[in-house]
Amino acid sequence: MRTRRRKQKIKKLIILCLIVIIIIVSLIMLFKMLFKKETNLFNNINNYQANYYDDYMKYYDKNKNSDKEDIVNFINYCKNNSLDYDEISIDLIKFYKLNNFDLANLNRYLDYYKNHKDSDLLQIINIVNSDLESVSLEYGEEINIFLLNLINEKYYIKDNLKRYINYYQKITGFDYKEPYNTKEIITNVNANLDYNFYENTEITDISKDTLMIVNKHYKIPDDYKPKNLVYIDDWEYGYWNLIRADVYEEFKKMSKEAKKDNVTLFIASPYRSYNDQKVLYNSYVANDGVKNADTYSARPGYSEHHTGLAMDLIPEFGLQLDTFENSAGFKWMQENAHKYGFILRYPKDKEYITGYMYEPWHYRYVGVDAATTIKNEGLTFEEYYEYYVK
Ligand code: DAL
Ligand code: ZN
Repeated sequence: MRTRRRKQKIKKLIILCLIVIIIIVSLIMLFKMLFKKETNLFNNINNYQANYYDDYMKYYDKNKNSDKEDIVNFINYCKNNSLDYDEISIDLIKFYKLNNFDLANLNRYLDYYKNHKDSDLLQIINIVNSDLESVSLEYGEEINIFLLNLINEKYYIKDNLKRYINYYQKITGFDYKEPYNTKEIITNVNANLDYNFYENTEITDISKDTLMIVNKHYKIPDDYKPKNLVYIDDWEYGYWNLIRADVYEEFKKMSKEAKKDNVTLFIASPYRSYNDQKVLYNSYVANDGVKNADTYSARPGYSEHHTGLAMDLIPEFGLQLDTFENSAGFKWMQENAHKYGFILRYPKDKEYITGYMYEPWHYRYVGVDAATTIKNEGLTFEEYYEYYVK
């Protein structure tokens, strides 16, 4: 009897033990499950990738204040692009989805951003991509839109950047928010209009030959004399004066074609030496004063006639320069001059660039390619020289 009771007792004890064990095991499992859920802080976050979990956690342990979604995006991007996330600011996630983002420039975006947290992020990308951050930092980020507009202009010249900015500051009184016309700023500076006429002049590069520029910014050496001067030896073409031989040949070709259309072109004044120009300019100054003379006459050393490449045309022997505009020759030249390499050098409404009043009689030889581009693009020679020759 006693043995039976004992046996029963043992049995109960075993069952009890089993139940306790089952309960403990269940509790452990439950605890484990709950614990695991609690420690995976990231699996509910968009873009979560289980294989980067340890990296998320590692980053999180060091940067408890960071947003978990930011961490996920940041680590994903670093891992996918083999970047060391310990070396890079999490600010990268502000940039990598934006237009024009270039991974190669990442550190430069981040450097700029570090000191300009309020800047427009797209602008930072575009400024950095265009290598403009040093200028932007020097002048202040208010200049960014202006800079980005500038560099998109067709005739933007990198070397002139500071001059564009200075010119712009001068005309707008340093207020970048005013409306501005970047094309005009570029045109004016490229044509040296940020300098006053006859100030900051430089000696022109005579090696450019038929494309050399001579104006109120580019001086020709006083003793320059074209090597190939010849006399106009036929009254059909002009007065007995010196002209460059190559230009004379081109002129004769042009004149012969014009004759087929019953049009005459007569050269009144081609090459003029420094002294010729000095006598002429001084006489204008004596009669009209410096201010007026400067609008229609070059000072000695600054006249294009000195190159042997320029000429004043009249309709025929004995007429004045101002008769040319109303002649058939003027109309013919407007349509055909470029085919023979000649351009109207001082056009209407471009006085502020050329520095001279409109001169319908003054033509300049530049060669067919240049003359054609100048005509097609509506440029002055000043602009053409800056864009294509210099
Ligand atoms: N009349 C032109 C500008 C000259 O004197 O060269
Ligand atoms: Zn002239």
